[in-house]
Amino acid sequence: MNTLILNNNNQSLEIAKNIINLGGLVAFPTETVYGLGGNALNKQSIDKIYKAKGRPSDNPLIVHVCDEEMLKPLVTHIPYKARLLINAFCPGPITLILNKTNIIPDEITNFKSTVGIRIPENELALKFIRTCGVPIAAPSANLSGKPSPTSFYHVKEDLDGIIDAIIHDVDTKFGLESTIVDMSNDTPVLLRPGAITLKMLEKIVGEVQISPYLINNTFIEDNIEPIAPGMKYKHYSPKAPITLFKCNESTFINHVNNLIAKNNDKKIGILFDDRIDKFIKTNYVVTLSLGSNHLDYGKYLFKHLREFDNQNVDIIYSFYFDEDDANLAFMNRLKKAAGFNIIELV
Ligand code: TXA
Ligand code: MG
Repeated sequence: MNTLILNNNNQSLEIAKNIINLGGLVAFPTETVYGLGGNALNKQSIDKIYKAKGRPSDNPLIVHVCDEEMLKPLVTHIPYKARLLINAFCPGPITLILNKTNIIPDEITNFKSTVGIRIPENELALKFIRTCGVPIAAPSANLSGKPSPTSFYHVKEDLDGIIDAIIHDVDTKFGLESTIVDMSNDTPVLLRPGAITLKMLEKIVGEVQISPYLINNTFIEDNIEPIAPGMKYKHYSPKAPITLFKCNESTFINHVNNLIAKNNDKKIGILFDDRIDKFIKTNYVVTLSLGSNHLDYGKYLFKHLREFDNQNVDIIYSFYFDEDDANLAFMNRLKKAAGFNIIELV
C-alpha cells in the first residue's frame, strides 16, 4: 500500500475524511503521542487497526472526540466527578473511562461495558476529528511492543506501507500517553499516569485510588484480567536490555564509568539528564540526555529509546530518576521499558 503523507490544510483534511469514511486508517498527531485513527463506529476499521499494529484484540482502544456533542451519544451518562474532570482538563492529555452505550461496537472495548474517551487538545487533531465528523478510535501509532511515536518520523518508520495516510505535524508536546482515569465507579481510579498528575486530579475530585498494577512494580500476570488491559503487555522496549541504577547522581556516574572501562567489547547506551557529559567517551558509548526537568524527560524518553535501537547498542544503563508527582508518568514508562530491572547501589 502507498501511504499518503498529508499536511495541515483543508484539502489534506478532506482526503483524510474520505479515507476514514471509506473504512481506512489515518495516523494523526495529538499532544501526547501520534494516534492510529479509524472510524470508531465501523467494525472493519477497528479490525484493521488491530492488524496494522499487530495488537492483541483483547486490548481495548480509546475513542477520540472533538467536543461534548460528539461525546454524549457514546456514554450512558457523565457522572458528577467526571463532569468536574472534563471541565478542568478537556480538551487535554486525559482519557476518562465511562459506561458505554450500544453505539460503541464491542470490538473497540473487547466486550467491556466501559469505553475510554479522550478529547485531545492538539489543534490539528481536533480539526481532523471535526472534519471526519465521526468519533475516531485510536491507539498509539506504533507497532505493538515498540515505543509510542512522538514524531511523524516514528510513525513513518513503523507504519509506512501499512496504513492509508499519515498527517505530518511537529513532534508531540508531552511525549507520554494520556493519563487514564476510570470514572465508572464512585471513586476515580488512576489506571495510567500522564501529564495530568495524581495531585492535579485530586485537587479537582478529592480521593483518587491508584491501580494496584501501578503500585506493584511488576507486569500483570497473563491469567488475571487487568483493569487497563494494555497494562499486561510488555511495552516500550528497546532491543537492548535496560538496567536502572537507583542511587545518587555521582554514584551513578562513577559506577557507569567503571562499567564502560571494563566492557570495551559492548556498545553501551546511557540515559541520564543534562549532566550526560560526565561519562567516558569512546566509540562504544552512546550518551543521550533527557534534559533538565520532568517535562523534557517525558518529551524525549520514547525518542531516545528508538535512537538506542537505531544505534544498535547492546546494553542500556539509565539513572533511576525521582518518582515525585510530576515524574510519576515518566518513571512508569521507564520502569516498564526496563522490564523492572532495577539495581540499588549504596
Ligand atoms: O495519549 C493517548 O492516550 C494515546 C493518543 C493516541 O490518544 N493513545 C493511546 O492508546 O495511548 P493506547 O491504545 O496505546 O493505550 C490505551 C490504553 C490501553 O492500555 C488500554 O488497555 C486502555 O487504554 N483502555 C482502553 N479502553 C479501556 C477501558 N474501557 N477500560 C480500561 N482500560 C482501557
Ligand atoms: Mg500504545
